[in-house]
Amino acid sequence: LISSLRNNGEPLFDSLAISGLAFAFSYCIIRWSGDTFLKRGFKGRDMSKKQPIEIPEFMGVLPALVYLLALTAFVPFVFKSDIVEMTSGAGNKDDLLEAQQNETVRFLHLFPLEKLAPYGFAGFTLAAAILLGIMDDTFDLRWRHKFFIPAFASLPLLALYGIKYGETHVMVPAPLRGYLGERTELGMLYYVYMAALSIFCPNCINILAGINGIEVGQSLVIACLIVLNDALYLSPTVQQPHPAAESHLLSIYLLLPLIGVSLALLQHNWFPAKVFVGDTYCYFAGMVFAVVAILGHFSKTLLLVFIPQIFNFVYSAPQLFALVPCPRHRLPRFNARTGLLEPSVATFSDERPLRPIVGEVLKILHKLKLVRVAVDETTGRVTESSNLTILNLWLVWRGPLREDRLALEILAMQTACGLAGLWVRHSLALMLFAV
Ligand code: UD1
Ligand code: MG
Repeated sequence: LISSLRNNGEPLFDSLAISGLAFAFSYCIIRWSGDTFLKRGFKGRDMSKKQPIEIPEFMGVLPALVYLLALTAFVPFVFKSDIVEMTSGAGNKDDLLEAQQNETVRFLHLFPLEKLAPYGFAGFTLAAAILLGIMDDTFDLRWRHKFFIPAFASLPLLALYGIKYGETHVMVPAPLRGYLGERTELGMLYYVYMAALSIFCPNCINILAGINGIEVGQSLVIACLIVLNDALYLSPTVQQPHPAAESHLLSIYLLLPLIGVSLALLQHNWFPAKVFVGDTYCYFAGMVFAVVAILGHFSKTLLLVFIPQIFNFVYSAPQLFALVPCPRHRLPRFNARTGLLEPSVATFSDERPLRPIVGEVLKILHKLKLVRVAVDETTGRVTESSNLTILNLWLVWRGPLREDRLALEILAMQTACGLAGLWVRHSLALMLFAV
């Protein structure tokens, strides 16, 4: 498969080489810049350590910028075969020079500009997401202010999608076709869905956070799962390529450098962390996934590799939308005596009251082992509840765990969910959507 791609002029090896360089560059620059960030005041206290030292924060901005550089460096390789084709036939060097003078117009005419567009638009959207992250990390934006901004960043992508594909229908599963027909046209709703995806992906990574390595770790797992899904569309015989092969190759070229820079960041952010990634990395990585799904035309499949994040978002909703009081930090509580993490709690008092009906729902969820609450014996009112994040819920189920163990278990669970999701997509879906 790899050699057939190579023979076809696909720059897979160039992408791999540039991603390797991006890894090395990110690794070094993060290591060298830590002190500078500390001096500038970009630092955070690692709350889950016996001696909670301050370490550099906002370091994810460096790999994000290296990614943009890597993408820029990669673009000429996309046109390698086109340039060879356009300049071939010119014979020797003199012929070539002479040809160049009167061939500029022909060159521009033949240059496949439409192949450049996805990279340009993707770069713009990612740069906008990185800018948002920088604003958030330096000014600590309020949640309600920053929530919708990624949707604006994705507008050029949606425009490109409209021009390039313009498809806004979904296939209807076989059992429902009698009622709805073979496909349902979603129209503008499909664009609203894609904009929502670009809000969801960055934010959901940012709220599945709080233990060393989890933001980068989950992004790496998602990136690898999408690359695996992309690889399934690359037929070993280039003579009969899958109709979606081109868009999945684009996805691979956008994801390989992300894997490179993220591996470098993980080396520094894994337990015991030497740097924090900051919100910039979360927005950037989340936006890469939204970009590849929109441009690669697989925005519904994307949800299958985001199952834990979707669960975490839905589970968090009562706190995010202030039905249950939400403390500034919801990361698991560190027990200094045991050295293990336990579920952190939100406490309710007269200043931070809990509506009685919500208290009753929490009690039911407690019985179902979906949350842990404490109840006042005399009044029967809920006085505290474990914070509504998947990390705390995992600790409710599994008991106290060491920080790296918790991160590993969550990443393993995420990998299993993603593989199962993709399996459903590629096997069961065939049955459901069989014509
Ligand atoms: C999100 C979460 C918040 C969680 C925080 C942790 C929501 C709505 N927000 O907020 O509940 O507490 O991420 O990242 O769910 N930290 C550690 N160890 C780590 C990572 C972070 O102690 O491994 C602490 C550090 O003090 C660091 C701070 O978290 O300075 C970073 O928090 P920040 O990313 O600014 O929080 P938010 O993204 O706003
Ligand atoms: Mg954050």
